[in-house]
Amino acid sequence: MAQRPTIVGNWKMNGSRAMLVEARAIDRVAARYKDVAVSLAPPFPLIALLRDEVSAIGVGGQDCHAAAKGPHTGDVSAALLADIGADFVIVGHSERRRDHGETDAGVLAKAQAALTAGLGVIVCVGETLDQRDAGQATAVVEAQIEGSLPQGEAACEAAALGRLAVAYEPVWAIGTGRVAEVGDVVAMHAAIRARLDARFGDAAARITVLYGGSVTGDNAAALLSAPGVGGALVGGASLTAEAFGPIIAAASAG
Ligand code: PGA
Repeated sequence: MAQRPTIVGNWKMNGSRAMLVEARAIDRVAARYKDVAVSLAPPFPLIALLRDEVSAIGVGGQDCHAAAKGPHTGDVSAALLADIGADFVIVGHSERRRDHGETDAGVLAKAQAALTAGLGVIVCVGETLDQRDAGQATAVVEAQIEGSLPQGEAACEAAALGRLAVAYEPVWAIGTGRVAEVGDVVAMHAAIRARLDARFGDAAARITVLYGGSVTGDNAAALLSAPGVGGALVGGASLTAEAFGPIIAAASAG
């Protein structure tokens, strides 16, 4: 059975209690498009509040610590995210890699912690503009896949259950309004898929690969219908139902 397209809204460091009204409106849109798996990742303090307000969408975190608990001031564990009702967590977003010096090994540890806590996990990868211009985009992303994704039997089991996803987000396309060419997206998704097949075998078929970077209602249809693109990770255009709704609609067959 074909998997439902997945549309994930990453609110980043945006949001407020007042914005729960948008989450409710997004939830109502999602309820109309049951053939699309929709979710939102708000900032930590809004996760439990948002969870109580929605029923048709999944709710996730934007990061977690690799340890289950302990002396890590300001951090949040995957176990706590699961405890307050999160379904998944995004790890290795390029803004975390940039702002917090996160490495592939650190991202891998977080992804493993998320799976241990019973969460789904979206691992982000993507090249910078310098790397693309230097012809290194595919090699960079392949190295991130190798270094950031969990492995071993537990990871294969999680993948087979559909709890593992990858988001390809070219860094230069995030928040810039500059979208990657569909042909480049298709080529990169194929390269990622080949790595996933080699690593996860049959279970790789259940790993969704999302595209992210300046996705809007205007370009979503072209990106989402591209071969190998299983959905989108959306930043700016996920903050209101007015902007996010058309992306959900574009992902729907109906
Ligand atoms: P953007 O962000 O849609 O605002 O470009 C995407 C992301 O970083 O997940």
